[in-house]
Amino acid sequence: MKLLKINNERVTVKYFTITLLFFMSNFMDVVRLEKFDHLSRNTEDFIISPIIDSETLIDNYGFRSVRRLKFDDPYLYLYSQQELNQLRLSETELSLQAEIRRNKGEWLRKPRTVYVDGQGNYVNKNEKRDWGDPILSDIFFNDILQGSISAISWKKMIPSANALSYFSDPTQPTIISEQGLIAVDDLTKKWWTECTDGEAIRNRNATLNYLVEDYIINNELDDKPLDWMSLGCGTALPVIKSAVNLGIEPNLILVDKDIDALEQTETLAKQLFFNGNIMKFSDINIFSENDMNRLSEVLNFKPKIIDLMGIFEYTGDNIRVNPSKFLRNSYSLLDDGGMMIFGQMLDTRPNLDFALGVVGWPFIHVRSINDLKQIILDAGIDLSKAELFLPNDNVYSVVKIKK
Ligand SMILES: C[S@@+](CC[C@H](N)C(=O)[O-])C[C@H]1O[C@@H](n2cnc3c(N)ncnc32)[C@H](O)[C@@H]1O
Repeated sequence: MKLLKINNERVTVKYFTITLLFFMSNFMDVVRLEKFDHLSRNTEDFIISPIIDSETLIDNYGFRSVRRLKFDDPYLYLYSQQELNQLRLSETELSLQAEIRRNKGEWLRKPRTVYVDGQGNYVNKNEKRDWGDPILSDIFFNDILQGSISAISWKKMIPSANALSYFSDPTQPTIISEQGLIAVDDLTKKWWTECTDGEAIRNRNATLNYLVEDYIINNELDDKPLDWMSLGCGTALPVIKSAVNLGIEPNLILVDKDIDALEQTETLAKQLFFNGNIMKFSDINIFSENDMNRLSEVLNFKPKIIDLMGIFEYTGDNIRVNPSKFLRNSYSLLDDGGMMIFGQMLDTRPNLDFALGVVGWPFIHVRSINDLKQIILDAGIDLSKAELFLPNDNVYSVVKIKK
């Protein structure tokens, strides 16, 4: 569809809105949310069943292996296939429009612009904090999502781990708004469930679960609890769910500067019947070599598993963090025989401009597989120790590095 001027853009998108809402109202009766118990273990049992392609990819880029993971996300079945197709179509349409507007310099801040330094301080204090495409963002939240208070409250949470938790578990019934705790409306719930990034985050969590399971099965571990460190853990929802799902009681070392998110880990642990130990660190800047050394000294032991899920795409020029140094510092904390796991959003991902411009996830630095390879090499890590996993949603890559 041809792009018109700004005033007319609204007309174009509204056409899609109307089509979308038409489909939503027609198929609303197939919603089967009641089958999905909020935070239940059963829900996750369905999700965490990756099917690995029997063949590894022929071009392995020098990695030990490159494998595609196929997931069958049960949340996507909460709505009809037609609704899913329609929603994805409107997402793609907005993404294309956002891409065109980004190329014309109409976003407030372009991706990869230097914004804050490695300590999180603004490089230019006078710069506006707003991000992304203001016009399309307004159309999405105020027209397509009908100005939903749930959706707007959620947007304000971006890029916190709290915002992410609604993708991990889109059936969460409530959200904190300016008016206090409110019920999430159906339209917003549907977006979290069906959108590209919702599926990708759940598949990323499932990949983490799969790799930890594989590690437990294939390594002779002693009887003491597994030391599992999560850097930039957020609420640690994927980690805790995974531990419970795998029936293990690890000693979790959770590191995040977001005190609110860290506090939530206790509540989640109780809700999910997690019986392991939890150590929390909110005063460590994971991008600072000094802080990471301090963490290592305080702990006085090295974890067998370190995950850096959802943090790697924030490293780069835009926040002046060298990804190779970050990787090397994190790897130095890992015990011999241990495993490090990190995710990275791919530059070839679908609906990139929708995620960055319209929804407005800031700072994100997307990368190619070759970029990843170079980062690992620059960190001084032998590529033959690294395995690459590519979930079939094509949004993230996940790297596993053994020591
Ligand atoms: C996208 S979330 C990922 C959460 C979780 N690992 C997951 O996969 O769901 C990224 C987290 O990194 C944390 N973070 C960002 N920069 C940090 C820093 N310099 N030091 C510590 N934590 C940081 C944020 O507070 C946020 O909770």
